[in-house]
Amino acid sequence: MPLHLDLISTLKDMFGRIDNARPSHARGVFVTGSFTPTDEAKEWSIAPHFSSPSTPVIARFSLFTGIPNIPATDPNANPHGLAVRFLIGDDVKTDIICQSSTVFPANTGEGVLAFFSNYRDGTVEEYAKDHPEALPFMQEDRKFPKNFGTQSFYSINAFKFINAAGKSVFIRYRWVPLSGRQFLTQSELEAKGPNFLFDELPGVFAQGPISFKLVAQVAGEGDITDNCNEIWPEDRQLVELGMLTLTKVTDKEALPPQKNSIVYNAMPGVPGIEPSDDPVLAARARVYPTSGETRRAAEPEN
Ligand code: HEM
Repeated sequence: MPLHLDLISTLKDMFGRIDNARPSHARGVFVTGSFTPTDEAKEWSIAPHFSSPSTPVIARFSLFTGIPNIPATDPNANPHGLAVRFLIGDDVKTDIICQSSTVFPANTGEGVLAFFSNYRDGTVEEYAKDHPEALPFMQEDRKFPKNFGTQSFYSINAFKFINAAGKSVFIRYRWVPLSGRQFLTQSELEAKGPNFLFDELPGVFAQGPISFKLVAQVAGEGDITDNCNEIWPEDRQLVELGMLTLTKVTDKEALPPQKNSIVYNAMPGVPGIEPSDDPVLAARARVYPTSGETRRAAEPEN
């Protein structure tokens, strides 16, 4: 079986074969807003959303696993996801897909498949003995945010920025919450219901927008850019690219006819941003469109 199909199938083994749900990050909510670049952003990349004064976005906050009704209080619902689609113009769009964890359990598509397979088979602890690269992900202490907007999100994979002079750099994205990072204490978490992140979101927006700074961590000389397990040192240059301002839960009418049919794409697809040679990113480039096609085919019309 081709790798991308095996990855999708193994996720479905783990979480259930639900044709019209995402095999990963199945539970989520669409939100609407806009992105405003900093003056500096266009010096790093000629991508259109870094020079246009403002670009509308449709974003999706999500919970990990392919279980569509996973409680927001379930530890397996972490890491959370933030996928942002920049609606640049007619048929021109680009996405940034991030998760709230800084680490990933493997650095190739085959490695991710081996991790998933062992997780499915209940042998992941054994597997990790020979694969210490999985340990930071397995052992991470994942806190529950007060709301979706009080945590950072990370792209894990690197991308290449190209500017007007043709100069290129490798970067990793992070979304940094303007509210600061705020997490629930254990007793606060215990008082929450299984839908709290979703039920409380309209109330959060009623207080004001949820905003994130888009920051690029720039690779230094000699930093490895094609291996997502190679974390770059924290002293690397951080460039502020702009501000994401999310204002509301998306009206059903604003969504395409089939509610869940937005298929975010790990490939940038606009001038000025290219994928790195990270094989995990290459695997994702095939996984997401295929998964999306299957979901679309199975979705009822609204
Ligand atoms: C080989 C590695 C990976 C595989 C096999 C994989 C698999 C998937 C699949 C099958 C989906 C559902 C796609 C759809 O039906 O639209 C998905 C969604 C998602 N993935 Fe991954 N993923 C991988 C790596 C990553 C990484 C590194 C990140 C974080 C940077 C990530 C974050 C997300 C998020 C946030 C979503 C939800 C997107 C949405 O809201 O529609 N994934 N992934």
